Amino acid sequence: MKKTVKKIQKYKSENKKIAALTAYDFYTAKYLDTAGIDVILVGDSAANVVLGYDSTTRITIDEMLVFTSAVARGAKEALIVADMPFLSYNVSIEQAISNAGKFIVNGADAVKIEGANDYIINLTKRLTESGIPVLAHLGFTPQYINTIGGNFIQGKDFDTTLKILESAKKLQGAGAFAIVLELMPKEASKFISENLAIPTIGIGAGSDCDGQILVVNDLIGKFDEFSPRFARKYFDSKAMITDCAAKYINDVQTGSFPSEDESFKLSDEELKKLENYKQS
Ligand code: KIV
Repeated sequence: MKKTVKKIQKYKSENKKIAALTAYDFYTAKYLDTAGIDVILVGDSAANVVLGYDSTTRITIDEMLVFTSAVARGAKEALIVADMPFLSYNVSIEQAISNAGKFIVNGADAVKIEGANDYIINLTKRLTESGIPVLAHLGFTPQYINTIGGNFIQGKDFDTTLKILESAKKLQGAGAFAIVLELMPKEASKFISENLAIPTIGIGAGSDCDGQILVVNDLIGKFDEFSPRFARKYFDSKAMITDCAAKYINDVQTGSFPSEDESFKLSDEELKKLENYKQS
């Protein structure tokens, strides 16, 4: 059964943790869905882990729309959230609603936007009123990397934690259905989670958030530029792919691929014609 925003929100009162992962393509989404994942985020992390850009600020809305529609075709039950890329929602409310609408038309159930300034609070309200559920994102917000100055842990003291909670409460008031908390001390995210009615989904924010999210490429070991301390690697896809490719190269070079069974064959009658032709 389809997991809706309302169902995901109910997990909090049921003391059930939300399990979320990113995905960017049809089959990964299909397999995560089969495994029972609650939320699939078509993250702008696709910039780094799929397209090889050096920053999430490089990915365009058109690129994100291709990933979103592929994921939506693959996952039938998970709640699909599309990450609105850099500057696709910051220029004006009208443009942001129009861009968010493109993600919904392409199969997303909700969008994620970063930050909590007055404009973002207002945008959260307007998107929600327009029928577009919003997943907010606080703590470390990668799209602001150039103004933040680096991947710094956020909420490292009482005052900044309180500030994040105040922002989270404003987003909750504006209609955000949940909030991603990224790169925060576990006690800070626990405090924030306990003081909100809506669920928090942590990444690098400890175990007391209402759910967890990881980048799927970190989970399966398919990205090795950088391995965040908070990511748990369940598989070594890099080793698997390089090993398979090395075996294939060897099989091609030695002539053991393709085998007879992997080849199509002419009927004896047609083969005879070829042989006769050769002889004449
Ligand atoms: O783009 C992304 O992958 C994210 C994280 C929260 C996982 O925003």
